[in-house]
Amino acid sequence: MDIKALKNRAISDIAKAKDLPELNLVFKKYLDKQGELTLILRSLEELPKLRRIQVGQEANQLKAYLRDIFDKKGAGLKEKAMKVAEKKEWIDITAPGKKILAGHLHPLTLAKRKVEEIFQTMGFSVIEGPEIENEWYNFDALNIPKDHPARDMWDTFWLKTGRKKLLLRTHTSPVQIRYREKNQPPIRMLVTGRLFRHEATDSSHEINFYQVEGLMVDKDISAANFKAIIQEFLNRFFEKPISIRLRPSFFPFTEPSFEIDMTCLICQGKGCSVCSKTGWLEMIGAGMVHPNVLKYAGLNPKFWQGFAFGVGLDRLTMMKYKINDIRLLYSGDLRFLNQF
Ligand code: PHE
Repeated sequence: MDIKALKNRAISDIAKAKDLPELNLVFKKYLDKQGELTLILRSLEELPKLRRIQVGQEANQLKAYLRDIFDKKGAGLKEKAMKVAEKKEWIDITAPGKKILAGHLHPLTLAKRKVEEIFQTMGFSVIEGPEIENEWYNFDALNIPKDHPARDMWDTFWLKTGRKKLLLRTHTSPVQIRYREKNQPPIRMLVTGRLFRHEATDSSHEINFYQVEGLMVDKDISAANFKAIIQEFLNRFFEKPISIRLRPSFFPFTEPSFEIDMTCLICQGKGCSVCSKTGWLEMIGAGMVHPNVLKYAGLNPKFWQGFAFGVGLDRLTMMKYKINDIRLLYSGDLRFLNQF
């Protein structure tokens, strides 16, 4: 049992250890439960008494000594490892930051919010209605009976359902009815919602688009009130005076009915593809609420009158941001969207 030789081997092994895992292996080899020195200490019993005392002393001294240099070496290696890690994790706080791309609102959303804000300042409540409707709300209650040719004004997407005939709403007017069922006049309500039409698409027509529907019902409402409110709205939306013209028109749920055109802001009235070369853009369908429609809602047309209108939100957006093709609004094309 050559303790001296063991000591020398252990010292040289400890010195050779390059990192903590290596040092651990050396520790295991000599000082762990199965380590060489541990085994020596355990086998002392087998030795004659005198020899046992001598070897025991030497071995215990060596154990204390080795523990000490293990600790020192361990502390050194630990420090070294930390320095390496620090170097790896080093952050250059002076380097320029990476720009995080922030999302932004779609032009239609920007326009919708602006419209709602303007009408809210004029006392209109902003409400919502379902995109899937039944025939009653989309047609009948709006004075468009079954088999009436007026239904052809709205090419409809019908849903394949069982007995109940459901459809994708072809305008936002059904929300007027839903609102009147639950609210008593005086009424000032506004809906901005999506609608669907089974139509061919081109630069100014899409199969789904948005309308802003307004309804005002009170005791003494005339078309003059309507014209004033719409003029005020358009001026504020476009932040400049806007020329409009009212044309007589037909809607089954209003009488009289009119259509409101505004000068095309894309070509400044000169004529372009968006305004079909006329310089005017059809923007709003409107009229005085038909007495039948008031009756369906349980209101006496002798006491109450009102006006209703439906504005194309997409067209408003196109005019505001000078967009010459409605299809861009639904393309999801980032080259387009990133401009807003
Ligand atoms: N709902 C009509 C349409 O989609 C527009 C409109 C609304 C007309 C309200 C008159 C009154 O064409």
